[in-house]
Amino acid sequence: MFRLKGNVIHKNPKSDTVFQLSCRIQINDSDYLLEELSSQHNLKAAVEEKPDHSKFLIIYSKNKSEALKVKSLLLELNKHSFSNFRMISLPQSHWATRWKKGLKVLRISRNLVVSPSWIKYQKKAQEKVIRIDPEMAFGTGHHATTRMCLEWLEKLAPSSKSVCDVGCGSGILAISAAKLGIKNVLALDIDPEAIKIARKNARLNGVLPKIRFLTGPLKEQKIKKHYDIILANLTAQDLQKNWKELKTLANPQKTLLILAGIEKSQQVWFEPWLEKERKWIIIDRKKESDWIGYMLKREKLET
Ligand SMILES: C[S@@+](CC[C@H](N)C(=O)[O-])C[C@H]1O[C@@H](n2cnc3c(N)ncnc32)[C@H](O)[C@@H]1O
Repeated sequence: MFRLKGNVIHKNPKSDTVFQLSCRIQINDSDYLLEELSSQHNLKAAVEEKPDHSKFLIIYSKNKSEALKVKSLLLELNKHSFSNFRMISLPQSHWATRWKKGLKVLRISRNLVVSPSWIKYQKKAQEKVIRIDPEMAFGTGHHATTRMCLEWLEKLAPSSKSVCDVGCGSGILAISAAKLGIKNVLALDIDPEAIKIARKNARLNGVLPKIRFLTGPLKEQKIKKHYDIILANLTAQDLQKNWKELKTLANPQKTLLILAGIEKSQQVWFEPWLEKERKWIIIDRKKESDWIGYMLKREKLET
């Protein structure tokens, strides 16, 4: 699984030159790698497919040593999956255009569409279109875990009055909730930059006044309210660390708790751990590429 270890030093020199690091990749889940590079390492990257179907990862950095650090992180991760490294310098305007070109309009269902904010999407009458510029935050909609949450959210929205989006990233889930008509939406993220981006996206979608944003880790929030739906697209380890606080957001009579961000290889220990939490039972499961998501409710609760 492509989870990069270590941090890339991120300097921001006032130069208008960027370094482009490219390499051939042989992996299935390039979406996750792209989101990781963006959200954990503040780097923009794209995957391009050549006519012979070989895939290349293109990473842009303002700093040469940063680009070299990424190269060693990738090799440390799996030296067989990344090869043919090449570095060149380019004008800064080049990277934004190239990265943005890679993001496409995404259909979640017949009625729900996610569109990059720079694309003019012609919406059909029945559609709700969520416009997102993720900048450096996680949440373009293209990652399997975000899509799972969106599918469940759309299904549950007509019967739900409130949603808490724990780890909102670009704001994609909270904004969708508000656009799907849910009245009370809370979005929080440990990362102040993500909250800034999520607020911008909420404004872009005309739902800023409908969403309350909080900055900081869930553990430090003193949230008194209960929510009909709790969305937590976090890593399996973060879900465990925040389990007690996630439960305090739940109304035992009606809350549905959606957990995404669990890698398939983690199912062997994550599910038995969840099952030990006897009061919460798994009522639905989604699996896509290397990811699993769960919907849980309190025992004795009818959906
Ligand atoms: C995988 S992204 C999910 C983004 C978006 N909700 C989606 O589904 O695409 C996880 C987000 O959770 C945030 N996060 C991680 N741990 C957190 C915590 N303890 N409290 C609040 N936010 C957290 C990260 O900063 C990141 O933006």
